[in-house]
Amino acid sequence: MTAETLAHLMEESNRTVLLTGAGMSTESGIPDFRSSTGLWQNIDPRIVASTESLQKNYEHFREFYQMRITALDNCKPHKGHLILADFEKRGLVSLIATQNVDQLHQQAGSKNVAELHGNIVSIRCQKCGKPHGKEQFLNNSICTYCSGKLRPNVVLFGETLPTEAWDRTLHEIHEADLVIVIGTSLEVYPVNQLPSMSRGKLVYINREQTSTSAHYSFDLVLEGTAGEILTDVHRKLGDLKKF
Ligand code: APR
Repeated sequence: MTAETLAHLMEESNRTVLLTGAGMSTESGIPDFRSSTGLWQNIDPRIVASTESLQKNYEHFREFYQMRITALDNCKPHKGHLILADFEKRGLVSLIATQNVDQLHQQAGSKNVAELHGNIVSIRCQKCGKPHGKEQFLNNSICTYCSGKLRPNVVLFGETLPTEAWDRTLHEIHEADLVIVIGTSLEVYPVNQLPSMSRGKLVYINREQTSTSAHYSFDLVLEGTAGEILTDVHRKLGDLKKF
Protein backbone atom coordinates (compact mmCIF):
# COMPACT_ATOMS: atom_id res chain seq x y z
CA MET A 1 0.00 0.00 0.00
CA THR A 2 2.56 2.64 1.07
CA ALA A 3 4.97 2.00 -1.85
CA GLU A 4 1.96 2.35 -4.16
CA THR A 5 0.95 5.60 -2.44
CA LEU A 6 4.45 6.98 -2.97
CA ALA A 7 4.41 5.88 -6.62
CA HIS A 8 1.18 7.84 -7.12
CA LEU A 9 2.59 10.91 -5.34
CA MET A 10 5.63 10.78 -7.65
CA GLU A 11 3.46 10.44 -10.75
CA GLU A 12 1.33 13.43 -9.69
CA SER A 13 4.30 15.60 -8.68
CA ASN A 14 5.75 18.12 -11.14
CA ARG A 15 8.89 18.67 -9.13
CA THR A 16 10.22 16.04 -6.72
CA VAL A 17 13.35 16.63 -4.62
CA LEU A 18 15.15 13.87 -2.74
CA LEU A 19 17.14 14.44 0.44
CA THR A 20 19.46 11.52 1.17
CA GLY A 21 21.71 10.59 4.06
CA ALA A 22 24.11 7.84 5.12
CA GLY A 23 21.27 5.29 5.22
CA MET A 24 21.25 5.49 1.42
CA SER A 25 24.79 4.06 1.32
CA THR A 26 24.80 1.34 4.01
CA GLU A 27 23.60 -1.27 1.48
CA SER A 28 26.73 -0.43 -0.50
CA GLY A 29 28.83 -1.34 2.53
CA ILE A 30 29.44 2.18 3.86
CA PRO A 31 28.58 2.53 7.58
CA ASP A 32 26.23 5.31 8.65
CA PHE A 33 26.92 7.47 11.70
CA ARG A 34 24.20 7.26 14.35
CA SER A 35 22.46 3.91 14.02
CA SER A 36 23.61 1.10 16.31
CA THR A 37 26.41 0.18 13.88
CA GLY A 38 27.26 3.77 12.98
CA LEU A 39 30.74 5.34 12.91
CA TRP A 40 30.00 7.72 15.76
CA GLN A 41 29.22 4.84 18.11
CA ASN A 42 33.00 4.32 18.56
CA ILE A 43 34.53 7.55 17.29
CA ASP A 44 33.98 11.10 18.55
CA PRO A 45 33.43 13.23 15.40
CA ARG A 46 35.00 16.24 17.11
CA ILE A 47 38.30 14.34 17.31
CA VAL A 48 38.42 13.28 13.63
CA ALA A 49 35.93 15.32 11.57
CA SER A 50 36.07 18.91 12.80
CA THR A 51 38.08 22.01 11.91
CA GLU A 52 39.71 21.64 15.33
CA SER A 53 40.88 18.10 14.52
CA LEU A 54 42.32 19.33 11.22
CA GLN A 55 44.28 22.03 13.03
CA LYS A 56 45.30 20.29 16.27
CA ASN A 57 45.02 16.58 15.55
CA TYR A 58 46.08 16.31 11.91
CA GLU A 59 47.47 12.75 12.09
CA HIS A 60 44.19 11.46 13.61
CA PHE A 61 42.16 13.50 11.11
CA ARG A 62 44.22 12.26 8.16
CA GLU A 63 44.10 8.61 9.30
CA PHE A 64 40.29 8.76 9.65
CA TYR A 65 39.77 10.11 6.15
CA GLN A 66 42.44 7.86 4.60
CA MET A 67 40.49 4.90 6.06
CA ARG A 68 37.16 6.18 4.68
CA ILE A 69 38.61 6.99 1.24
CA THR A 70 40.31 3.59 0.95
CA ALA A 71 37.11 1.81 2.05
CA LEU A 72 35.26 3.42 -0.87
CA ASP A 73 37.37 1.40 -3.34
CA ASN A 74 35.28 -1.70 -2.51
CA CYS A 75 31.92 0.07 -2.60
CA LYS A 76 29.60 0.57 -5.55
CA PRO A 77 26.08 1.94 -5.99
CA HIS A 78 23.32 -0.51 -4.98
CA LYS A 79 19.98 -0.98 -6.75
CA GLY A 80 18.46 1.90 -4.78
CA HIS A 81 21.01 4.34 -6.25
CA LEU A 82 20.40 2.94 -9.75
CA ILE A 83 16.63 3.31 -9.34
CA LEU A 84 17.01 6.97 -8.28
CA ALA A 85 19.14 7.60 -11.38
CA ASP A 86 16.41 5.94 -13.50
CA PHE A 87 13.77 8.16 -11.83
CA GLU A 88 15.82 11.22 -12.83
CA LYS A 89 16.13 9.96 -16.41
CA ARG A 90 12.35 9.52 -16.53
CA GLY A 91 11.80 13.07 -15.26
CA LEU A 92 10.40 11.84 -11.92
CA VAL A 93 13.14 13.48 -9.79
CA SER A 94 14.59 16.96 -10.35
CA LEU A 95 17.35 17.02 -7.71
CA ILE A 96 19.08 14.77 -5.20
CA ALA A 97 20.34 16.88 -2.28
CA THR A 98 22.69 14.52 -0.45
CA GLN A 99 24.60 14.63 2.82
CA ASN A 100 26.69 11.71 1.54
CA VAL A 101 30.30 12.24 0.53
CA ASP A 102 30.82 8.99 -1.42
CA GLN A 103 29.53 10.13 -4.86
CA LEU A 104 27.57 6.88 -5.25
CA HIS A 105 24.58 8.80 -6.63
CA GLN A 106 26.77 10.17 -9.42
CA GLN A 107 28.39 6.78 -10.01
CA ALA A 108 24.86 5.33 -10.41
CA GLY A 109 24.15 7.90 -13.15
CA SER A 110 22.31 10.68 -11.28
CA LYS A 111 23.28 14.03 -12.85
CA ASN A 112 21.47 16.60 -10.67
CA VAL A 113 23.16 16.02 -7.31
CA ALA A 114 23.85 18.74 -4.72
CA GLU A 115 26.64 17.62 -2.34
CA LEU A 116 25.60 19.50 0.80
CA HIS A 117 28.50 18.05 2.82
CA GLY A 118 31.01 17.99 -0.01
CA ASN A 119 32.81 14.76 -0.82
CA ILE A 120 35.85 12.74 0.26
CA VAL A 121 36.95 11.75 -3.25
CA SER A 122 38.58 15.09 -4.09
CA ILE A 123 41.45 16.68 -2.14
CA ARG A 124 42.67 20.26 -1.63
CA CYS A 125 45.31 22.10 0.37
CA GLN A 126 43.86 23.60 3.54
CA LYS A 127 46.15 26.64 3.24
CA CYS A 128 46.19 27.64 -0.46
CA GLY A 129 43.14 25.67 -1.65
CA LYS A 130 44.91 24.12 -4.63
CA PRO A 131 43.54 20.71 -5.73
CA HIS A 132 45.66 17.59 -5.22
CA GLY A 133 45.35 13.91 -6.12
CA LYS A 134 43.78 11.32 -3.81
CA GLU A 135 47.06 9.37 -3.86
CA GLN A 136 48.97 12.37 -2.48
CA PHE A 137 46.58 12.52 0.50
CA LEU A 138 46.76 8.75 0.97
CA ASN A 139 50.58 8.76 1.02
CA ASN A 140 50.83 11.60 3.55
CA SER A 141 52.12 14.22 1.09
CA ILE A 142 52.03 17.92 1.86
CA CYS A 143 50.85 20.63 -0.54
CA THR A 144 53.06 20.74 -3.66
CA TYR A 145 52.74 24.53 -3.81
CA CYS A 146 52.86 25.82 -0.22
CA SER A 147 53.64 22.78 1.97
CA GLY A 148 50.24 23.17 3.64
CA LYS A 149 48.09 20.29 4.97
CA LEU A 150 46.07 18.28 2.46
CA ARG A 151 42.41 17.47 3.26
CA PRO A 152 39.33 16.05 1.46
CA ASN A 153 36.67 18.47 0.15
CA VAL A 154 34.27 17.28 2.85
CA VAL A 155 32.39 19.81 5.03
CA LEU A 156 33.88 19.40 8.52
CA PHE A 157 32.01 20.16 11.72
CA GLY A 158 32.58 23.88 12.18
CA GLU A 159 32.64 24.66 8.44
CA THR A 160 29.88 26.21 6.35
CA LEU A 161 28.11 24.28 3.63
CA PRO A 162 29.08 24.92 -0.02
CA THR A 163 27.06 27.98 -1.11
CA GLU A 164 26.21 26.75 -4.61
CA ALA A 165 24.90 23.37 -3.38
CA TRP A 166 22.94 24.98 -0.55
CA ASP A 167 21.39 27.74 -2.66
CA ARG A 168 20.45 25.30 -5.42
CA THR A 169 18.82 22.97 -2.88
CA LEU A 170 16.93 25.84 -1.22
CA HIS A 171 15.56 26.92 -4.59
CA GLU A 172 14.47 23.39 -5.52
CA ILE A 173 12.94 22.72 -2.09
CA HIS A 174 10.85 25.91 -2.36
CA GLU A 175 9.61 24.86 -5.82
CA ALA A 176 9.05 21.21 -4.93
CA ASP A 177 5.62 19.71 -4.55
CA LEU A 178 7.11 16.49 -3.18
CA VAL A 179 10.18 15.99 -0.95
CA ILE A 180 11.31 12.43 -0.25
CA VAL A 181 13.75 12.08 2.67
CA ILE A 182 15.76 8.85 2.51
CA GLY A 183 18.15 7.32 5.07
CA THR A 184 18.93 10.23 7.36
CA SER A 185 18.38 10.74 11.09
CA LEU A 186 17.79 14.46 10.42
CA GLU A 187 20.03 15.26 13.40
CA VAL A 188 22.43 17.62 11.67
CA TYR A 189 21.81 21.32 11.13
CA PRO A 190 21.19 23.02 8.71
CA VAL A 191 20.21 20.13 6.42
CA ASN A 192 17.61 19.02 8.97
CA GLN A 193 15.79 22.32 8.38
CA LEU A 194 15.16 21.57 4.69
CA PRO A 195 12.11 19.25 4.93
CA SER A 196 10.09 21.86 6.83
CA MET A 197 10.97 24.53 4.23
CA SER A 198 8.94 22.73 1.60
CA ARG A 199 5.29 23.55 0.92
CA GLY A 200 4.96 20.20 -0.79
CA LYS A 201 4.16 16.75 0.46
CA LEU A 202 6.79 15.20 2.73
CA VAL A 203 7.74 11.50 2.67
CA TYR A 204 10.23 9.71 4.97
CA ILE A 205 11.95 6.46 4.01
CA ASN A 206 14.12 5.12 6.84
CA ARG A 207 15.06 1.81 8.38
CA GLU A 208 13.78 3.00 11.74
CA GLN A 209 11.89 5.85 13.33
CA THR A 210 14.35 8.29 14.90
CA SER A 211 13.84 10.67 17.82
CA THR A 212 14.04 13.65 15.47
CA SER A 213 11.89 12.27 12.65
CA ALA A 214 8.92 12.40 15.04
CA HIS A 215 9.17 16.24 14.98
CA TYR A 216 8.32 16.44 11.27
CA SER A 217 4.81 16.23 9.87
CA PHE A 218 5.47 13.62 7.20
CA ASP A 219 2.55 12.86 4.93
CA LEU A 220 3.87 9.33 4.50
CA VAL A 221 6.44 7.26 6.44
CA LEU A 222 7.84 4.07 4.91
CA GLU A 223 9.89 2.06 7.39
CA GLY A 224 12.40 -0.29 5.77
CA THR A 225 15.60 -0.28 3.77
CA ALA A 226 16.08 2.18 0.92
CA GLY A 227 16.89 -0.59 -1.56
CA GLU A 228 13.76 -2.59 -0.78
CA ILE A 229 11.34 0.33 -0.66
CA LEU A 230 12.71 1.96 -3.82
CA THR A 231 12.44 -1.38 -5.64
CA ASP A 232 8.76 -1.62 -4.61
CA VAL A 233 8.08 1.96 -5.71
CA HIS A 234 9.92 1.38 -8.98
CA ARG A 235 7.84 -1.73 -9.63
CA LYS A 236 4.62 0.18 -8.94
CA LEU A 237 5.73 2.87 -11.41
CA GLY A 238 5.75 0.19 -14.09
CA ASP A 239 8.13 -0.67 -16.96
CA LEU A 240 10.37 -2.28 -14.43
CA LYS A 241 14.06 -2.22 -15.40
CA LYS A 242 15.96 -5.18 -13.99
CA PHE A 243 18.57 -3.98 -11.48
N1 APR B 1 17.77 2.09 4.48
C1 APR B 1 17.09 3.09 5.11
N2 APR B 1 17.55 3.72 6.22
C2 APR B 1 18.75 3.31 6.69
C3 APR B 1 19.51 2.27 6.09
C4 APR B 1 18.96 1.66 4.94
N3 APR B 1 19.60 0.67 4.29
N4 APR B 1 20.66 2.12 6.81
C5 APR B 1 20.61 3.01 7.82
N5 APR B 1 19.47 3.73 7.75
C6 APR B 1 19.05 4.84 8.61
C7 APR B 1 19.52 4.75 10.04
O1 APR B 1 18.57 4.04 10.81
C8 APR B 1 19.61 6.23 10.44
O2 APR B 1 18.39 6.67 11.00
O3 APR B 1 19.65 6.02 8.08
C9 APR B 1 19.84 6.97 9.13
C10 APR B 1 21.25 7.53 9.01
O4 APR B 1 21.38 8.55 9.97
P1 APR B 1 22.85 9.06 10.34
O5 APR B 1 23.73 7.91 10.61
O6 APR B 1 22.71 10.12 11.38
O7 APR B 1 23.40 9.72 8.99
P2 APR B 1 23.01 11.15 8.40
O8 APR B 1 21.64 11.54 8.83
O9 APR B 1 23.27 11.09 6.95
O10 APR B 1 24.10 12.09 9.11
C11 APR B 1 24.13 13.43 8.71
O11 APR B 1 26.08 13.78 10.11
O12 APR B 1 28.11 13.11 10.85
C12 APR B 1 27.48 13.91 9.98
O13 APR B 1 28.39 14.73 8.02
C13 APR B 1 27.85 13.57 8.57
O14 APR B 1 26.49 13.77 6.61
C14 APR B 1 26.53 13.23 7.92
C15 APR B 1 25.53 13.95 8.81
